[in-house]
Amino acid sequence: MNGPGAGPDDPVIVIGSGIAGLTTALALAPLPVLLLTRDCLGEGSSTALAQGGIAASVGADDDAGLHLADTLDAGDGLCDADIAATILDHAVQAIAMLARNGMIFDRDADGTIALGLEAAHSRRRILHAGGDGTGAAITEALARAVRACPSVTVIAGADARRLTMANGRVTGIMVHQAGGMRHIPAWRVVLATGGIGGLFDATTNPVGNYGAGVAMAARAGAVLTDMEFVQFHPTALASNSHPLALISEAVRGEGAILLNDLGQRFMDGTPGKELAPRDVTARAIHAQIKAGRRVFLDARAAIGDRFGSRFPGIARLCAANGIDPARDLIPVQPAAHYHMGGILTDAQGRSSLPGLWAVGECASTGLHGANRLASNSLLEAAVMGMAVARDIRDHRFPRRQPQPRPQLAPTTIAPADPAPVRAVVSRHLGVLRDAEGLDMAIAELLPLALSDRPGADPALVALSVAVFARLRQESRGAHSRTDFPASQPIGTRHSMTLSQIIAAAQGITAPDLVPARSA
Ligand code: FAD
Ligand code: SIN
Repeated sequence: MNGPGAGPDDPVIVIGSGIAGLTTALALAPLPVLLLTRDCLGEGSSTALAQGGIAASVGADDDAGLHLADTLDAGDGLCDADIAATILDHAVQAIAMLARNGMIFDRDADGTIALGLEAAHSRRRILHAGGDGTGAAITEALARAVRACPSVTVIAGADARRLTMANGRVTGIMVHQAGGMRHIPAWRVVLATGGIGGLFDATTNPVGNYGAGVAMAARAGAVLTDMEFVQFHPTALASNSHPLALISEAVRGEGAILLNDLGQRFMDGTPGKELAPRDVTARAIHAQIKAGRRVFLDARAAIGDRFGSRFPGIARLCAANGIDPARDLIPVQPAAHYHMGGILTDAQGRSSLPGLWAVGECASTGLHGANRLASNSLLEAAVMGMAVARDIRDHRFPRRQPQPRPQLAPTTIAPADPAPVRAVVSRHLGVLRDAEGLDMAIAELLPLALSDRPGADPALVALSVAVFARLRQESRGAHSRTDFPASQPIGTRHSMTLSQIIAAAQGITAPDLVPARSA
């Protein structure tokens, strides 16, 4: 698809108003920015739901090296150690940036910053606000700063649907607003569209977040990486709601334990017990549930009457389900929570396409590897938002701006609907995977991804997860194959463009079942 050529004075377009988009827009000042977001500013984001907090090695017993060691351990051999070191080294700057923008972190009685503990962290290093309201506090502070920032123009209710390209370079985006579809020319676009949890029935993410940015980037030709790595949070509140409410890992950090309905503390024999890496705990709970057991978090002895003051938001979520965590067991289940994979970026947040940057959960820098260390994602989004802004400021308008050329029309720019893919994704791309299930998922998702139906973009993202998962014949981090339970001796990141993904899918699927059409 093409659009009118972009001009040097076009504003930078930032898509999404979670921590990644808000930070990038602010850090770009005084460069003019058009911030497009699907809902109202800061709404429809995972950021606003974040409970545990933001990791930073600011404690007296801590340093960036220890934080790096924990991050690499959790990442199970797949982190990019250089990028991880760079991002974690900037943690103090990210906290200072948030504080400058009005964020107030919780303090202990003696006035020092209060530091929480989460799984697989060897130190207390989780800064939080309002007890368990970190994400809401970040959103409120940054959204207020954006509203007051003269260089940022916010367009709410804007659903970005396609990047427009000419000669391999970004020329703008197609966006749907109340008045209909419109093309906005731009030579610098930043995707900050969040994760893919909305593809699953059981998720903690806003249900509309299916990976729109990943789909747009893939359709434009960008390289995707590590798409198979979906993190399942072990302790979502078991209920029929969609999304599921989260019971923060910080609750286990304060000593809450996991029990099954026989009263057995089934994590007792596992190294780290309830604070084992997230993938380990999620698999243990999944195994209990598969065996017909129910699983509960027991905060009664460890937290008891302090629950309401330390975790006021979670106490409210429990109360809405008739549960008092000071006295009752909390029923929990794993839920899709975070996507380690996404649009491949370098240390400046540049994608493989000129003019396109990605930041936050839709990007994959290599910080998280195969399994994200808790509370590293808000940190990554804040650090990388600032890095992207620095990089864009150094960019010069290309002297020979490519003229738009006719290209293939997009298969669809209808509103996306993840509902048609949720059953297949939930059945085959969950906590445990195998070749048979992945092949079924690929066979079902491929025709939809190649269609112009409303499920096409979500199907394309889900197909990418399935193909990467099918090709990774090992278990590593959050990717667990029952048919390949061991890890390969050396961990390798995998990257593909959409045409490679589709070719791989067509190779896996019986060719006579699937019409071979281009994306
Ligand atoms: P998001 O915050 O998800 O924002 C994405 C934005 O893009 C939204 O504004 C959305 O509306 C917009 N958007 C999407 N598609 C389009 C489109 N096509 N057009 C226009 N706009 C679009 N991480 C931590 O580090 N610590 C925690 O304590 C923590 N707790 C969490 C608790 C929950 C319940 C969840 C779900 C996640 C948690 N995480 C936590 C993960 C973390 O919150 C996210 O990884 C992070 O907030 C992602 O930020 P983001 O800006 O990349 O995306
Ligand atoms: C939690 O509070 O358990 C979520 C933290 C995270 O996802 O980083």
